[in-house]
Amino acid sequence: MSAEELNKEINRRRTFAIISHPDAGKTTLTEKLLLYGGAIHLAGSVKSRKTQRHAVSDWMEIEKQRGISVTSSVLQFDYNGYRINILDTPGHQDFSEDTYRTLMAVDSAVMIIDVAKGVEAQTKKLFKVCRQRGIPIFTFVNKLDRFGKSPIDLMEEIEQVLGIRAYPMNWPIGIDGNYQGVYNRQKNQVELFSEDGTHGQNVIASEVGSVEDPVFAERIGKENHQALCEDIELLDMAGEQFDDEKVQHGELTPMFFGSAMTNFGVQNFLEEYLRLAPPPAARESSDGIIDPQDEKFSAFIFKIQANMNPAHRDRLSFMRICSGKFTRGMSVYHDRTGKMIKLAQPQQFLAQDRTIIDEAYPGDIVGLFDPGIFGMGDTLCSQGHKFHFPDFPVFPPEQFARVQAKDTMKRKQFVKGITELTQEGAVQLFQQAGAGTESYIIGTVGSLQFEVLEYRLKNEYGVDLLMQMQPYEVARWMENGKEKITPSSLRGADRGMFVYDIKERPVLLVSNEWALGWITDNNPDIKFYPVPPDK
Ligand code: G4P
Repeated sequence: MSAEELNKEINRRRTFAIISHPDAGKTTLTEKLLLYGGAIHLAGSVKSRKTQRHAVSDWMEIEKQRGISVTSSVLQFDYNGYRINILDTPGHQDFSEDTYRTLMAVDSAVMIIDVAKGVEAQTKKLFKVCRQRGIPIFTFVNKLDRFGKSPIDLMEEIEQVLGIRAYPMNWPIGIDGNYQGVYNRQKNQVELFSEDGTHGQNVIASEVGSVEDPVFAERIGKENHQALCEDIELLDMAGEQFDDEKVQHGELTPMFFGSAMTNFGVQNFLEEYLRLAPPPAARESSDGIIDPQDEKFSAFIFKIQANMNPAHRDRLSFMRICSGKFTRGMSVYHDRTGKMIKLAQPQQFLAQDRTIIDEAYPGDIVGLFDPGIFGMGDTLCSQGHKFHFPDFPVFPPEQFARVQAKDTMKRKQFVKGITELTQEGAVQLFQQAGAGTESYIIGTVGSLQFEVLEYRLKNEYGVDLLMQMQPYEVARWMENGKEKITPSSLRGADRGMFVYDIKERPVLLVSNEWALGWITDNNPDIKFYPVPPDK
């Protein structure tokens, strides 16, 4: 393949995640984007969700039961010559680790804000991660068919709460709760909610090329027109100028108003987003910047998922391609083990529908059949150019439980299940000093992860769990630069629980910062870290 052809494939790719607080409309918007891309044909699916209570991207039983998305899935479709990869992220706060990792694999993000609720807690957290990565962030203000905050207030809220300025790409027309449509500032056109309230919009283009056009006044009413002209004048004068450079660095967010449920403004959003969002970007590595155009292949694993489909009972690792061309059956160098691996059964997804793929390019996400070789964050590259991408950040666990199999005869399955789910990154595994493999200590960032663990061990491994919550909230990895720290060499070890992580590094679990303070004061030779010190 020529460099030009590779370049063409890279430039038409857009890989992004949708971030939002639960219920802002992420599932609905995802569905609508798929609908426009022709990837699904289920107009009105959202309406029937009360009975069906799951969308295309929700596939696990537990997700259906709870009505939340537990793990990220990957959706790919084409639109107008673009190849789009949407990485679905769970909105629930307990799954933030998985979400954070997913955000490492995208080139931009779409932030959905509920027009009535504004910037919510989970949006804030996820936004922060995107900000740290410096990726472009696009804002979709959803549910415009309902009452909500004023557009100006929302702009201010975004600026104050998130610290990023917003550039409205369009602007609502009419009265809150009864908007007629939006004014598109780029195209100088008025887009009206269609009468039947189901699909898209009626578009009226300006004849004179500005919001002042009397054609608009006639169509939307004098008062609405005047209010719109004043708003636009205010935005043009006092608002931020559109600056693509700032958008690309995540310093200015293009803001769109619409309604995913009624399809309003969705298609326009998609088209503008595709135009402005960046194709796959260069990434840092141990060997300097890796350009996507580099003809040598490279990728990293950002997600591992066991038993994705109960009918298959397998484990899939998802890699994000960073450079070069991927072809089925190619052999790649696995940096962590130093081995060559043949990538024989690559898969791509539209939720549950899997297809075997023959080739893929930077920006694409490929699921790899994984007999247990891959670890989170592993780098794969061509043998001619060995390097590794930076490790993922590790999040300090805050809740702990002792787990063991109810039925001791099931110990083997229990250990297998716990080990596999730990490799997935679903939970962190510890072993109490001096304990055997009958029980483990599990650490998580949120309590829902325990439920998922319990559910999956039962459903996928046939193991009923005994789970005992432990009264600890803080974990500290310990190091003194000399010999290995043991329970007897740590003063006050009995004030907490002394455990080892899966790499056998000593960790102390304590119930609060006060207890930790006592222990750190009384062990001046030891350094305490909230995450493993080599991270
Ligand atoms: P999430 O994935 O971010 O959690 O949100 P989701 O799409 O599931 O949407 C949450 C609720 O908001 C759903 O209502 C959905 O129908 C509704 N919604 C999404 N977009 C819009 C919109 O543009 N306008 C209005 N008015 N509502 C919207 P639900 O009551 O949970 O389910 P359902 O009974 O509507 O199926």
